[in-house]
Amino acid sequence: MVHNLRTAIYPGSFDPLTNGHVDIIERGLKIFDKIIVAVLHNPSKKSLFSVKERVEMINLSFNGTENLCVDSFDGLLVDYAKMKDAAAIIRGMRAISDFENEFQMALMNRRLSRDVQTVFLMTGLRWIFTSSSIIKEVAEFGGDIRGMVPIPVKHKMEEKYPGLKK
Ligand code: PNS
Repeated sequence: MVHNLRTAIYPGSFDPLTNGHVDIIERGLKIFDKIIVAVLHNPSKKSLFSVKERVEMINLSFNGTENLCVDSFDGLLVDYAKMKDAAAIIRGMRAISDFENEFQMALMNRRLSRDVQTVFLMTGLRWIFTSSSIIKEVAEFGGDIRGMVPIPVKHKMEEKYPGLKK
């Protein structure tokens, strides 16, 4: 299948969006014509923010960025990618520890559909240790998360954890 406009899906839980995700999106925008950030709707996974809140926070963080749109999806990622006529799935790669799980997902997705390619982008070194879960854990215990998440996310986190450093 030939794609005239190169659209990529950047899927994830984004609970919440971190500066590591932002870094991957900015790198992806240099390669692809359009990126769809797709928040997985997964009722079986306990989350801090609702899908609606997560989509809202991503929209606020990228306010007005051309060629970026934010959506949510459920079901198989490859089906969603096909529906959006996307040529690629973007995943961020931090360290070796990410590799095994990412490799498994990419190969399964390839098995399920030959029409979409998984592209791994390396995060900047400064984000190699960050993840939504570790940031949530730090915030829960009142640690300083400034500079690790976009400002709109920081504000939403303050609502959830009133003890958070402003
Ligand atoms: O941010 P995450 O939690 O690492 O993202 C995982 C995600 C959303 C990419 C993955 O769970 C996914 O694609 N789920 C949709 C269901 C699916 O397609 N599963 C089979 C291939 S992994």
